[in-house]
Amino acid sequence: MSSATATDATATPMPRPEGLEGVVAASTALSHVFGEEGRLVYRGYDIHELAGHARFEEVAHLLWRGRLPNQAELDELHGQLGANRDLPEPVLATLRALPADTAPMDALRTGVSALGAAHGDLFDEVPDPAEAIALAARVPSILAAFFRLRQGLAPLPPRPDLNTAQSYLYQLLGEVPDDRHWQPLDVYLVLLADHGMNASTFTARVIASTQSDLCSAITGAVGALKGPLHGGAPSKVLDMLNEIGAVANVDPWLTRALDTDQRLMGFGHRVYKAEDPRAEILRGMAERASDPAFFALSKTTEERALAMLAERKPGRRLYTNVEFYSAAVLAAVGLPGDMFTPTFAVARSVGWSAHVLEQVANNRLIRPQSAFVGPTDKRFVPIAER
Ligand code: ACO
Repeated sequence: MSSATATDATATPMPRPEGLEGVVAASTALSHVFGEEGRLVYRGYDIHELAGHARFEEVAHLLWRGRLPNQAELDELHGQLGANRDLPEPVLATLRALPADTAPMDALRTGVSALGAAHGDLFDEVPDPAEAIALAARVPSILAAFFRLRQGLAPLPPRPDLNTAQSYLYQLLGEVPDDRHWQPLDVYLVLLADHGMNASTFTARVIASTQSDLCSAITGAVGALKGPLHGGAPSKVLDMLNEIGAVANVDPWLTRALDTDQRLMGFGHRVYKAEDPRAEILRGMAERASDPAFFALSKTTEERALAMLAERKPGRRLYTNVEFYSAAVLAAVGLPGDMFTPTFAVARSVGWSAHVLEQVANNRLIRPQSAFVGPTDKRFVPIAER
């Protein structure tokens, strides 16, 4: 290392910091990804114990309060969520002011931020479970309001009698959904509610650790989720499958994509080095819920992509991730592609807020160190001499 380069970090050998791979950033009892085994656990429950058995609100209670609710507690939570779905007028006015072609994730980020400004009364204290409920209940309302406004339709008043999956679809599409539509969405919301120290959750915890407010933490988390390396992949999976179009095109399409160093959306994961258990559950749901031709195309694309990735990236252990079959399931539920990632945010708003509560309950400012690799001995040169 030259004398012009920082040497402070040389005292202790530091791990390669790029992407914080393998770095433990916080302690949590909420959820954990066992990457080698392909297991996901929420507060002690394997995801297979919950998916298809517990409703989304039960899982929200589990994450926020630490245990599954009894019937009276679940009824109470339903009532609280139902009573908190209304949006204040300044939030609606903010959404109305956005151009119709605004990406729904941008509208959500703006809407959550506006909610914090408009409802300072609700979100001005140290985040607590009541704030988590108040925010999570309004995330679907923000998305549904924008979804209708961009079509020139009036937002629908929420229905407190419906559960989250039903109410979200009702507010989006204007009809109380039948079981075929809301039940797979409910399972999807359970599967996506939390996922260890993922990028958006880390973002939320960093913001909460500064003693900022819940809406700020969730605004940041929405921004992090939007990127295609995190939650922004499922609509791109749909784009990919639509571009491929037919089983006969799968091999040439994938070959061309990999020859030009493109990432195949819906494959690979930082932590899973085995199949993502959520992908396995979603595959079964997609088979039951989606159009058979679309499922056949998805399945062939998956099989060929896995084979080609294994051949071209030996040792990388790239498997199907949650996003691949999310696309088929959410399309079957009746959602357009650009609402896939926002619907992920409906689920994850519960996990994010649970992490914020956990962070503030035992807070220490999250402020890591960096390995400085720049020069340290430059002299100022007046602008006329540069
Ligand atoms: N397609 C092609 N190659 C891939 C893919 C992929 N989907 N994923 C990883 N690789 C390759 C990389 O090119 C790299 O190869 P190299 O070492 O020969 O250069 C190697 O596998 C390791 O990749 P990294 O980028 O180091 O892995 P990282 O852990 O940083 O990335 C990520 C994980 C971002 C999910 C990655 O697998 C990816 O880009 N996947 C596609 C996007 C996607 O599906 N995102 C959703 C993730 S799930 C979620 O967040 C909810």
